[in-house]
Amino acid sequence: MSTSAPLGTITCLDDLRRLYHRRVPKMFVDYVESGSWTEGTLRENQRAFERLAFNQRVAVDLSERSTTSRLLGTPVALPLALAPIGMGGMQHPDGEIHAARAAAAFGVPYTLSTMSVCSIEDVAEATPAPFWFQLYVMRDQGFVRALIDRAREAGCSALMITLDLQILGQRHRDIKNGLSTPPKLTLRNLLDMARRPRWATGMLHTSRRGFGNIEGHVSGIDDMGSLAEWTARQFDPALSWDDVAWITEYWGGPIILKGILDPRDAVRAADCGAQALVVSNHGGRQLDGAPASLDALAGVLDAVGDRLDVWVDGGVRSGQDLLKAIAAGARAALIGRAYIYGLGAGGEAGVRRVLELIANEFDLSMAFCGRTAVDTIDADIFFRRS
Ligand code: GLV
Repeated sequence: MSTSAPLGTITCLDDLRRLYHRRVPKMFVDYVESGSWTEGTLRENQRAFERLAFNQRVAVDLSERSTTSRLLGTPVALPLALAPIGMGGMQHPDGEIHAARAAAAFGVPYTLSTMSVCSIEDVAEATPAPFWFQLYVMRDQGFVRALIDRAREAGCSALMITLDLQILGQRHRDIKNGLSTPPKLTLRNLLDMARRPRWATGMLHTSRRGFGNIEGHVSGIDDMGSLAEWTARQFDPALSWDDVAWITEYWGGPIILKGILDPRDAVRAADCGAQALVVSNHGGRQLDGAPASLDALAGVLDAVGDRLDVWVDGGVRSGQDLLKAIAAGARAALIGRAYIYGLGAGGEAGVRRVLELIANEFDLSMAFCGRTAVDTIDADIFFRRS
């Protein structure tokens, strides 16, 4: 691992998070750590996991255990996928390539964001396994089609359409920091970058410092301004279920719909023929005051749990959280911030470490609850006060 701390001393995600905060410029750390407005939903996502307790069982034969599962028909090492995160390549030089390679080596899917720094083609060339591509629906339909064509050409195995970011929730720190990619060379930013020599040197050694899927592919875009301004100009505020329908047809492969909390929207998602949906409040970054994703899960499962795979994201920071998500009925969970801590701390090896930690926590906690395989996990592993 390319960290100064010996790998053996990193025993939990918090260790990696601390290293991440030391190694990555504040502007990009703030981008990841922020929620919208009061950050109430951001906090609530984690609290919902904390409120649940496990029911310990004993004297169960734990000698044979497996954490494997299947996602969209493909075997996976854990019922987990890496969520799309914008600007991963600002968290670590060539960050998306590092994260995709770690996910492939570990055996879980990686989702590349439309707003990535490394392009679809960069990641496809550097990664041994197919990855998923996340689509933001832009006003320019020709560009959306071109992105889908590129994802198909690159062998992406599923298209994840994000439905909850037609407009952007306000994150105070991003505005105060003037968040942009690449960062503007203000005195404050230069001083901050100078305090992160590992990051700064790595960035000087890569040519990937803009939005790789966009720059050079859309004419007239050489200065994207701030992320918030760009999103407001380019993302389609009129996004509708009709768009989901044409995109689904145009893509022709597996579709994952992300950003659903209301059971009625879940029914529309199932009607569109999606293979999976992600119960998500976008990591508490959009509608502040929305419920924790975990709390919205039951309603969605009741409405469509027998029609398509229901996954969840938001607040998953450990294998115990992942176990709770599965016990609550999700077929899988997505992690975002959790893997970015590893990425910023140590690139590919850091993401690998995150996945190993979560897998180990998941495996042992599942066993303490008396279960030895993912498909035997159910709500009976939760403690109920008598
Ligand atoms: C984009 O996905 C964001 O939350 O900033």
